Amino acid sequence: MRWLLAVCGVGATITSPQIVLNLRKMGFTVRVILSPNACKFVSPEALEVISGCKVFHSTFDRGDGVVVPHIELAEECDIVVVFPASASMVARLAYGLADELVSATVLHTHRPVVVVPALNATALNKPVVERNLLQLERDGYHVLRPVKGKSVRITDLRDVGVSIASLESVVALVRRLGGKASQKSLSKLGQK
Ligand SMILES: Cc1cc2nc3c(=O)[nH]c(=O)nc-3n(C[C@H](O)[C@H](O)[C@H](O)COP(=O)(O)O)c2cc1C
Repeated sequence: MRWLLAVCGVGATITSPQIVLNLRKMGFTVRVILSPNACKFVSPEALEVISGCKVFHSTFDRGDGVVVPHIELAEECDIVVVFPASASMVARLAYGLADELVSATVLHTHRPVVVVPALNATALNKPVVERNLLQLERDGYHVLRPVKGKSVRITDLRDVGVSIASLESVVALVRRLGGKASQKSLSKLGQK
């Protein structure tokens, strides 16, 4: 299964190389795209080495035979997973903005989209954030919220705890959605 892993700029982003490595060990093909702010937390070059593919971080990037990344990469995958998603990316997606590569790709894909927000407790409890997450769900995106006991708590130097769903729960959801997609294509062929 081909993942398009869309990484945003949050504290949890520093774990992205290890996540890509783990996904590849599980047998997934992983192509990574970055929001411009993600590049402040992790280098595209490191992710290129680990994913084995060029990492795009601008809608105007080209290379690897890709000319318009937000259109081509949006289709050359089986699923788009925004992981980790920042509060600002959640807002961008809820409003249908396409002002950088991640939001533009999500807006242009026909594939299922999973959004995995990384939020601290204050942001998570803000009505505007909840409103945006609900809007994403209404729009057909699969939102994986941090759930007590099933999420990873990242503590920075100022002891600000940020929660995000675990990689295991993201993989479990992706596998479920992948299964549904293949069921759909089988039924299209008139098979069970
Ligand atoms: C050290 C640090 C950690 C951050 N962690 C988070 C976070 O966990 N969640 C979040 O929504 N924003 C976090 N931010 C704020 C985002 O970096 C900021 O909103 C940024 O504009 C997000 O960019 P993007 O959505 O375009 O990738 C953090 C910022 C810094 C400097």
